[in-house]
Amino acid sequence: MRILVCGGAGFIGSSFVRHILDHSADEVVVFDKLTYAGNLDNLSAFAESPRYRFIRGDIADVEAVRVAMQGIDAVVNFAAESHVDRSILNPGSFITTDVYGAYVLLEAARSMSVTRFLQVSTDEVYGEVIGESSHEGSPLRPRSPYSASKAGGEHLVQAYHVTYGIPTLVTRGSNTFGPHQYPEKLIPVVITEALDDRPVPIYGDGLQIRDWLFVDDHCSGVDAVLRRGTPGETYNIGGGNLHTNLELVERILDLLGKSRALIQHVPDRPGHDRGYSIDSAKLLRLGWTRDRAFDEALETTVKWYVDNEDWWRRVKATQDYQTYFERNYSDRESLTVSR
Ligand SMILES: NC(=O)c1ccc[n+]([C@@H]2O[C@H](COP(=O)([O-])OP(=O)(O)OC[C@H]3O[C@@H](n4cnc5c(N)ncnc54)[C@H](O)[C@@H]3O)[C@@H](O)[C@H]2O)c1
Repeated sequence: MRILVCGGAGFIGSSFVRHILDHSADEVVVFDKLTYAGNLDNLSAFAESPRYRFIRGDIADVEAVRVAMQGIDAVVNFAAESHVDRSILNPGSFITTDVYGAYVLLEAARSMSVTRFLQVSTDEVYGEVIGESSHEGSPLRPRSPYSASKAGGEHLVQAYHVTYGIPTLVTRGSNTFGPHQYPEKLIPVVITEALDDRPVPIYGDGLQIRDWLFVDDHCSGVDAVLRRGTPGETYNIGGGNLHTNLELVERILDLLGKSRALIQHVPDRPGHDRGYSIDSAKLLRLGWTRDRAFDEALETTVKWYVDNEDWWRRVKATQDYQTYFERNYSDRESLTVSR
């Protein structure tokens, strides 16, 4: 099969490319706009593979998508604006990529003989969930521009299945972590700030609960759905590791041998969901299993950032990163580190 991996230069997409090349004889065509989050370094290991090709393009560009989808059997769409904080600062780009871009891909898939169209979505579409676990039939109550745009993309995917018979699939992964994650998300922010002995920002009281999923397990879940999922269906991919943000940050600081005094509580994110938790029973019935225990996966991730300073220092040196970080945490530096 020849798979078009949209957003394949990002964190999870590039790991999915590795997964496909390592575990199948399939060919991969990466289609990626290379936004601030897209990074060809994430794909450099495959550059010489005869089963890999890269096309730079925007999923919201009708003509570029039509050309990229020629000869493609399956589409897996990771491409998205993916960061909640950025969606609060600039929601428009989320609608353009996560909703309109999904529409452009679906229209192209409709006019071609694509046998699978998998939309990678998120557990954040369920909104705040406390004391229970969402299953695939639970109501969608997105509360940030990011999660609302992801829900919009998903609704279009489902509508194209019902209306036009496109063989679509949707996955809703939980909070994902691992190597190559852009250092705006919690875990790499904590690791990289702590490595420089800078204050580590935590929103509010830090008691928000997330279900942490290692990136390789997310990718094997997407692959299981791609190959064995039933068209028209949605599948949760959860890590089964519920931790508060504070607990997680403390563990990372302990792994790095850094003082917990680096923790800096900063004003909470507006509309911050206190909890997420998803039930992955439907995916487990497809034969998917999680490979990595949380503690070991967290250690692997911390070690990767320790060993790959060049990667994250290059990213953090960009103007985009510095402008974003300054805007998002503008008054952080003026706060004293709590001891
Ligand atoms: N990171 C998580 O915790 C998580 C959890 C569940 C689901 N997801 C979903 O998984 C997908 C990948 O997430 P990620 O964390 O790897 O994101 P990321 O931000 O690291 O990567 C996104 C990739 O998409 C590309 N892209 C953005 N806009 C594009 C456009 N218009 N056209 C083509 N390419 C474009 C970027 O260049 C980048 O390579 C997203 O759809 C996200 O919603 C992420």
